[in-house]
Amino acid sequence: MDHFQYRDGALYAEQVSLTHLAAEHGTPTYVYSRATLERHYRAFDDALSSVPHQVCFAVKANSNIAVLQVLAALGSGFDIVSGGELRRVLRAGGDPAKVVFSGVGKTEAELRLALEHGVGCFNVESEYELLQLDALAQQVGRVASIALRVNPDVDAKTHPYISTGLKQNKFGVDLITAERLYRHAATCKGLKVVGIASHIGSQLLDVSPYLDALDRVLALVDRLAAAGIVLQHLDVGGGLGVRYRDEQPTEPADWAAAFLPKLAGRKLTIFTEPGRAIAGNAGVLLTRVLLLKPGEAKQFAVVDAAMNDLLRPALYQAWMDIVPVQPQDRASAVYDVVGPVCETGDWIGRDRELSIAPGDLLAVRTAGAYGFVMSSNYNSRGRAAEIIVDGNRAVVVRERESFDDLIANERLLDPR
Ligand code: LLP
Repeated sequence: MDHFQYRDGALYAEQVSLTHLAAEHGTPTYVYSRATLERHYRAFDDALSSVPHQVCFAVKANSNIAVLQVLAALGSGFDIVSGGELRRVLRAGGDPAKVVFSGVGKTEAELRLALEHGVGCFNVESEYELLQLDALAQQVGRVASIALRVNPDVDAKTHPYISTGLKQNKFGVDLITAERLYRHAATCKGLKVVGIASHIGSQLLDVSPYLDALDRVLALVDRLAAAGIVLQHLDVGGGLGVRYRDEQPTEPADWAAAFLPKLAGRKLTIFTEPGRAIAGNAGVLLTRVLLLKPGEAKQFAVVDAAMNDLLRPALYQAWMDIVPVQPQDRASAVYDVVGPVCETGDWIGRDRELSIAPGDLLAVRTAGAYGFVMSSNYNSRGRAAEIIVDGNRAVVVRERESFDDLIANERLLDPR
């Protein structure tokens, strides 16, 4: 459930009218609902309440520092994949001890930064990284807590671009290699072995791939215990899907109920790294219809948001719901909703039946995750503003980018 609802013929975020926000702050604008973010965080926290656990929000899904601040205030930890994301967490008041640092290509500078700030766990993804981290930790006089991100080779049955737990994917290390690396890590002075992690993909609608992955991971946990390497935590990754259209995603409570029995009798703290399931339905992208353009084969609704603002349709052919902010009783037509960017792939939705006129507002639903964070300045378009609604208050948590912002780091050559 989310807190975007129609009231008196117009779409609201909590108690704030989106029409009002668009009039005041312009479009395209991302609008997030604080109550929805909180509700979704708590759904995970409650689902795992019967065991020691830590929910680590995947910062990549929505990295606005105010969004991170809302979650940090609830006690959330964070899953990060870069030094930039670590800095955002720190700026938002997040606790570095509750941070897990994932990623196949952490740079030396990023590893150093994370060591300096005492991040809770490095989710190590290669032998090279393991050796490098051990050496760096010893150099700076720290001990790095580590988990290996293992690749359990299960098919998550999701879009190939967001499937990560197959052996042909670049992520993690296979179970055989992991066992060897754990044995080595246990002897390293700069490392402390604390856990094991796996993340098999994103937008998973079914729990069965989680269960298959867990069986494989737990078999390794047991082999390690037999070798005297006892792990404290198991990170089951993120990946729980959301409803964009008519999907029936598993709720956090049902997801947890499905896998927790497998962990009975084990003294493992459970970590999870949800991103989309917390932020996805907590945000919409507000956009205005610029013009309607009838064509021979198609009618186009050209809107002021484009692929640079919301890349998911162009990149994954993702279907995102597009709804009128103030539904009207006019005749409807079928449109391709497209942006102004000069690419055929610049579309937000295809073949959508809408009753619209130039100037109307549309909301693209479920845009709170992998929305703004994947935006760019392509076609010299400033990135959208971001607003958080909290009850009857709306706060601009990121200003719309100006032309000066766009060229701030560019330089002209000296005259010849
Ligand atoms: N943990 C790790 C190690 C990850 O790689 C990811 C996502 C997550 C957690 C969070 O997964 P989530 O709960 O959000 O599914 N841009 C794509 C999604 C890419 C996901 C990448 N990894 C999209 O828009 O669908």
